[in-house]
Amino acid sequence: MSQPTRVAILGLGQRGLQHLRSLWKLQSEGLVKITALIDVFEDNLAETKIQAYVDEFHLDSIYTSADFGETLASQSLDAIYFALPPGVHNGEIIQAANAGIHIFAEKPMSLYLNEAVEMEGVIQENGVISTAGFQQRYDSRYEAVHKFLADKQPVMTTMVVNGPLEGHSTKHTKTETLGGPANRVWTANFEWSGATVVEGGIHQTDLMRYWFGDISWVEANYIHRDASDIVDDGNNPYAYSVRFGFECGCIANLILSRLRQTYYSDSYESILWTHGHLKFEGNNVVAYYYDGPYPPDDTPTKDAVRHILPTSPYVDSTEEISRAFVRAISTGDSAQLKSTFASSMNSLAAVLGANASDQLDGERIYLKDFLAAPRYDRFRQKPTMVH
Ligand SMILES: NC(=O)c1ccc[n+]([C@@H]2O[C@H](COP(=O)([O-])OP(=O)(O)OC[C@H]3O[C@@H](n4cnc5c(N)ncnc54)[C@H](O)[C@@H]3O)[C@@H](O)[C@H]2O)c1
Repeated sequence: MSQPTRVAILGLGQRGLQHLRSLWKLQSEGLVKITALIDVFEDNLAETKIQAYVDEFHLDSIYTSADFGETLASQSLDAIYFALPPGVHNGEIIQAANAGIHIFAEKPMSLYLNEAVEMEGVIQENGVISTAGFQQRYDSRYEAVHKFLADKQPVMTTMVVNGPLEGHSTKHTKTETLGGPANRVWTANFEWSGATVVEGGIHQTDLMRYWFGDISWVEANYIHRDASDIVDDGNNPYAYSVRFGFECGCIANLILSRLRQTYYSDSYESILWTHGHLKFEGNNVVAYYYDGPYPPDDTPTKDAVRHILPTSPYVDSTEEISRAFVRAISTGDSAQLKSTFASSMNSLAAVLGANASDQLDGERIYLKDFLAAPRYDRFRQKPTMVH
């Protein structure tokens, strides 16, 4: 059996702790050795705090530090998980890839396309293994959709997600010390989260890419929050209407809302191919299509066209993406990864492009232009003074 993969996590907040929980399990199976935990706010590294999130966790020989560069220099690592708020990266992924360390980058990999392109370039140059945190591709229901649609021509998908602004959980970054929200709910704030399409909607966007392939263009219009209606810096728009055009010719509607004082949430999905509808009904993935002699003598009933798709048993997708990442490292084979950093760039460009389209009054933005055309320069740049 190969040596356990020596891993570190940068950022022990909500997501870093979820990864630590999975890695703690993988460590008990001899697959990884949790070697270092790094967080700029040292109390997020306290054993007693972490124990509240990871059963039976103990620091033992795990190295802890607030200093990324010093940890990189002093510890022997194979892989690092990056779980920072997406606007605060400061060259850490680039330093790690240049040191030959494999990269697990949480989504969105950056709020700034130029920064993400630079990260991608350095990952490629160094030939390190990488994945982006799109664990939903490992969810058995979404895999079932992927398999079912493989030989079909999708035409249109609509995904609606309504969530209350107050539904965002409190985060572990002490944003109040960094000029951010006093209540630490940075996901409700535009400057910190890049808005809901980038922070949350990138998951639906990436799932659609898993099913239909790459996105060619985006158009978006948002209803922005009234300045008099902003509480605790929660200034993200009320509602978002985004259209994606896929290279395969299908279109998608991504409709999101984050209202305040409603405490209501729901969601809806309709996935259409040329001859049927796919829906999620509870834990079932259901396809509605007619497969008898055509034309039928009588109009088929809803029951006659209802087909529950076969799905594999439930898995913890956060654990599953880590298993795939660690396996890719130990075998040197990235082919089993459902989302590499490079392959995830289209999802990131699509959601950042949505923000740009909204600012340009719903202009259709082709992602190949968004990545390079001077017209979109200002939307790709990282501002010099952030946080
Ligand atoms: N894949 C998913 O389903 C999923 C779920 C939640 C969050 N995320 C993503 O994970 C990332 C982290 O989000 P989170 O919810 O854990 O946020 P968080 O604020 O709870 O945690 C971030 C952690 O990073 C630390 N940190 C902040 N700035 C730092 C810096 N400059 N150097 C070192 N440490 C620093 C903070 O102290 C905190 O512990 C985000 O990109 C978010 O979108 C992904």
